[in-house]
Amino acid sequence: MTTIKNDAWSRFAQEHGPDFATVEYISSLVTAPEAIAGTIGHSLMNATDPRVHEAIGLPRIRVFGPSQLDYEASEAVVHSKYDGSNLVEWLQAVTGRKDVCAAFNGVETWSSKIRSTIYRSIVEPMVTACGVPPRGLDFYSFIAVSGFTPFGIHSDPEPSFIFHLGPSTKTVWVWENDTLPKLPDNREISLHTDKYLKSADHEFTLSPGDFLCIPAGRFHLFRNNGPAVFLGMSYYREDNHDELLQAISTLVRRSENQQDLANTALVAASNGEIHRELDRRQSQRLSRGHLGPYRILPVELFNVDLPAECLDVPFAVNNNQISVMGQSISVPESISDEDISRFFQPGKVLRAVDLQKLTDNPSEGNALFIALLRVGATFQTTEAGS
Ligand SMILES: [Fe+2]
Repeated sequence: MTTIKNDAWSRFAQEHGPDFATVEYISSLVTAPEAIAGTIGHSLMNATDPRVHEAIGLPRIRVFGPSQLDYEASEAVVHSKYDGSNLVEWLQAVTGRKDVCAAFNGVETWSSKIRSTIYRSIVEPMVTACGVPPRGLDFYSFIAVSGFTPFGIHSDPEPSFIFHLGPSTKTVWVWENDTLPKLPDNREISLHTDKYLKSADHEFTLSPGDFLCIPAGRFHLFRNNGPAVFLGMSYYREDNHDELLQAISTLVRRSENQQDLANTALVAASNGEIHRELDRRQSQRLSRGHLGPYRILPVELFNVDLPAECLDVPFAVNNNQISVMGQSISVPESISDEDISRFFQPGKVLRAVDLQKLTDNPSEGNALFIALLRVGATFQTTEAGS
């Protein structure tokens, strides 16, 4: 399914990437905003499911009130299973906040559906147009009702890409560096919005489907004009210093010698471990399509009696191992790689009974059906499966 105007998106990435140094607005870039918002809903369903928490851990979802982080409401959202109803109304009910504003990080890591949509619509054309993002991408969503963003005027260290999904509009102000190079006293944010609004260099009212690129370090401010959702993307530019620190820190954490950190780092440098760790990090990002790591969902989430949709994802099967965007899972040995490839066709509806025909043992067909779901090759609404 096409969700983004491929030509306009590729042209934008080619002309402005990989630096993305100018403010760029594209009207109606997203052709199916409600479809993308729906995939965010699927992520939230999984991320708030207690069975997923038990197996994988908790999501990062923060709920804000005006100029504050609301810990109680954040806890309430994480621990109330989203039922697929109207997203904003559900958030309001769960948090008891009419003015709810929620941030959901790593939104692409919780559902195979959003992952395939984001990869095929946004990431793949962008990489073709302007190359590999040096340190990967991060997707998040803001869901809010009204008023200014709780942290007011702020800037981000990476370029921000806003895919506005609606249903209401959102107003965005952006200041160029010459106009507002920094806030007084080197403050990181300002809630004195009235004081600055007139001096903004850009003002956009984003309708559902509109896109905005805000370069790194530019101060900006959002105002919600009604209930709305957006999908955000951070593009991590090259930072060799940070990359090296992360690699060393991973090696030190893995090391048995936690007491003598300097020596551990020295040994890792002298025997080539740091090089290997740097290479490993990069190849992991490449294999998972520059997205955050996919969370293999627990078996209990899926139902063998319900159909699944084969997703449009990079898919490989070799020696009874299925690999999908950096994750792999084993399938029963009685089923050949050729059979798996034959049955896995993007867009096709797959049923466990189809796979049972591949083997005399129905439980092996069922195991393959579940394996495809778990690795993110297929999709089944967990709402129906629960
Ligand atoms: Fe921002």
